[in-house]
Amino acid sequence: MKTRAAVLWDRNKDWSVEEIELDPPKEGEVLVAIGGSGLCHSDEHVLTGDLPWPLPMIGGHEGAGVIQEVGPGVTGLAAGDRVIFSFLPVCGRCRACARGMSNLCELGMYLGAGMQISDHTARHHARGQDLGLMCLLGTFAEHTVISQANCIKIDDDLPLDVACLLGCGVVTGWGAVTYSGEARAGDTVVIVGVGGIGINAVQGAAAVGAEHIVAVDPVAFKRQKALEFGATHAVATSDEAAALLAELTRGQLAQVCVNTMGIGEGDQIAASLALVGKRGRVVVTNLHRAVETTVAMSALDLTLFEKQVRGSLFGSSNPRADIPRMLELHRSGKLKLEELRTQTYSLDDINAGYDDLRNGRNLRGVITF
Ligand SMILES: NC(=O)c1ccc[n+]([C@@H]2O[C@H](COP(=O)([O-])OP(=O)(O)OC[C@H]3O[C@@H](n4cnc5c(N)ncnc54)[C@H](O)[C@@H]3O)[C@@H](O)[C@H]2O)c1
Ligand SMILES: [Zn+2]
Ligand SMILES: [Zn+2]
Repeated sequence: MKTRAAVLWDRNKDWSVEEIELDPPKEGEVLVAIGGSGLCHSDEHVLTGDLPWPLPMIGGHEGAGVIQEVGPGVTGLAAGDRVIFSFLPVCGRCRACARGMSNLCELGMYLGAGMQISDHTARHHARGQDLGLMCLLGTFAEHTVISQANCIKIDDDLPLDVACLLGCGVVTGWGAVTYSGEARAGDTVVIVGVGGIGINAVQGAAAVGAEHIVAVDPVAFKRQKALEFGATHAVATSDEAAALLAELTRGQLAQVCVNTMGIGEGDQIAASLALVGKRGRVVVTNLHRAVETTVAMSALDLTLFEKQVRGSLFGSSNPRADIPRMLELHRSGKLKLEELRTQTYSLDDINAGYDDLRNGRNLRGVITF
């Protein structure tokens, strides 16, 4: 069939919205009509080359839609089902899945290539070439064909252009604080960078009952939003946060610092380590450039104060458990979703959406269909 998608052909160029050719689903695959797609910073990392994944690629990995057709061997999903896409595939039976680390499912090994898990070929084509898919999804499109391993079936009480936010940002931010950072009631938590990820880290910190939640962002609008979502303080720089934390905690500093600024820089690890106290955790959620192999930090602090630096992928979550759980939290009024979506765009306006991301104008921009 023919459909429309936003394709990246060259680094540091605009997304090209054009007609593409889409093959029917093969073994274990589904055809989905997309209902909403969040504009996450990770696609921007592909555009800039921080994440040097092969092009051409259809972008988008924070999506939800309605299944139109299922391929052979698909179980538990049928045409008409509404699904949120987990941006990481989950097989449910590999060692990582069996150990409760399904964010690290072995199927993740195929993410970088962007071709179908089933046979490593493309269903999407344009200009006579195969197209890869961001995170094996390609949600910047009216339709896509993806693996059943990415589909989480949901009820019909939430619009898809809100539900899509659970496919990446909400669970990533919330989990970075609660799972990766192991924040507990009474802790002090710092969030550095209040975008689509950081604002949900603020929500997670508030939900576990953190005493002080300090949000750091150079953009005034972001600081204002952080306060609305549960931050107790909002400052513009990590230096300001350091002074504030010393005051608030009588020098004990934070238990958890989550790095969620748009791009990681090696020297920010040192700045964030300086915000946490004894046995404090710095959770690296944002992406650093693939070519960056050195970071600056006091390794002595790791020994003398048992400070820790931890990575976090999709908030160390188990998407098949956590996406439904977070939908329930939203139903019971304990998780804000609609308020995260500060602007909507048509697919044709995707480049304006990313300009707004670059300029700090949104918590999350969402493409609606
Ligand atoms: N680990 C994962 O599973 C995962 C998942 C999704 C996104 N990410 C990554 O998380 C990062 C954040 O994504 P996002 O969509 O929230 O981005 P975003 O662009 O929406 O937000 C980034 C925020 O950081 C702020 N910022 C920039 N420099 C800063 C600094 N020095 N100090 C404090 N704040 C600063 C910006 O003003 C902006 O508000 C990206 O690197 C993204 O690729 C990781
Ligand atoms: Zn994302
Ligand atoms: Zn698995």
